[in-house]
Amino acid sequence: MHKFVIKGGQPLKGRVRISGSKNASLPIIFASILTERAVIENVPDLRDTRTAISLLMDMGFDARFSKNKLEVVRTGNVKTEADYELVRTMRASVLTLGPLLARFGKARVSLPGGCAIGARPVDLHLKALSRLGAEIKIEHGYINAVAPDGLKGAEVVFDFPTVGGTENLLMAAVLAKGKTVIRNAAKEPEIVDLARSLKKAGACIEGEGTDTIEVVGTDSIGEIEYAVMPDRIEAGTFIACVAAAGGEIVIEEFPGDTLEAVVDKFREAGVSVEKLGDGVVSVKRDGRLRGTDITTEVYPGFPTDMQAQFMAAMCLAEGVSVIRETIFENRFQHVLELQRLGADIKIDGNTAVVRGVDRLIGAKVMATDLRASASLVVAGLAAENTTEIYRIYHLERGYENLDRKLSELGAEIKKEKSEKPY
Ligand code: UD1
Repeated sequence: MHKFVIKGGQPLKGRVRISGSKNASLPIIFASILTERAVIENVPDLRDTRTAISLLMDMGFDARFSKNKLEVVRTGNVKTEADYELVRTMRASVLTLGPLLARFGKARVSLPGGCAIGARPVDLHLKALSRLGAEIKIEHGYINAVAPDGLKGAEVVFDFPTVGGTENLLMAAVLAKGKTVIRNAAKEPEIVDLARSLKKAGACIEGEGTDTIEVVGTDSIGEIEYAVMPDRIEAGTFIACVAAAGGEIVIEEFPGDTLEAVVDKFREAGVSVEKLGDGVVSVKRDGRLRGTDITTEVYPGFPTDMQAQFMAAMCLAEGVSVIRETIFENRFQHVLELQRLGADIKIDGNTAVVRGVDRLIGAKVMATDLRASASLVVAGLAAENTTEIYRIYHLERGYENLDRKLSELGAEIKKEKSEKPY
């Protein structure tokens, strides 16, 4: 096990390049199941993308991953099963369900368990795939799904615009017979990226990025050849780092206007974010931050995946910030850890009230989930003395070389072997 040791108080300075998006890569990697061959570039080298690749290899696909380029080839028989051991480490493994059903007419996928940030059921995924004619049973902790005569296009209205549910259904609809209309679809940029990768391979999709997506199914699609979009949450996390630690950095491969809600809120808090060119922005904070309220919402609202990092920055702002989490019911686990650094935060239901303090002071803290870990890095960069963050394996699920990138920006951050069993 490893930990991060951060000596806070250094303003950041320099240039950083954003990696490919984790949340766009995962569905596109699983979309390879729909084709004979996929070549996917700009795939970040992370625990989650490695888990996705292991899943495909376990199913019998041949996969080669090097220098952020992934090639997946179907060589022989495919085992249409996603095993518990791999699914339990990554919920997004459930995204194998739609493509397996569409391509092979059957799938056996372990039911993902709960996770630290909330119950996160997959009922909406299953309901949607049933509308396309899949017969689904939950048995012994597995989702057993069959579509003996293939999937048939239908109109599907989601009760809630679920990101994963929309992706699963979109991939299934591509090889279903006839037309599928997805209403109340999620509009996240990662869904647009998935749709683009499928369209490039010959799929017939319209309306991605809006709440109604139309798909006309085909018997087969061609090879996927695609470069994944940059990671908007990683980009937002670097803005949060500058907001907390101060300084001025240039971000390259900035994911365009997909981060508008986050940029607006950081500007309101006193951070300057200026566009320098295509995909290049400068981020600067010299004065003190101002307390700023946020409410997490589905895209294009403020993303829940940036809530923890924004809160960490607001711990040092002047005045009060009211932070409301509406997407997940248990996503304030970072609060107890931020309090250990001296933050003044009170929670009432889904609302956290942050009263800015003059300084945070380093301590030992524990990462509890992916974005919570990132918030501890943000706070650690601004805290006086040394902060040690344990269980950084959560962070490594979703950030490529975060310690190295921050070191290059002048932060004093080291990854060390943990002396503890965690
Ligand atoms: C994806 C992202 C995650 C992000 C989230 C919301 C990936 C790999 N993960 O997760 O980083 O935080 O979107 O932007 O892309 N729900 C149900 N039933 C379902 C599906 C969802 O009740 O069948 C609920 C969830 O419990 C949650 C909410 O809907 O409260 C949003 O979930 P969803 O949009 O599906 O998120 P994920 O796809 O799991």
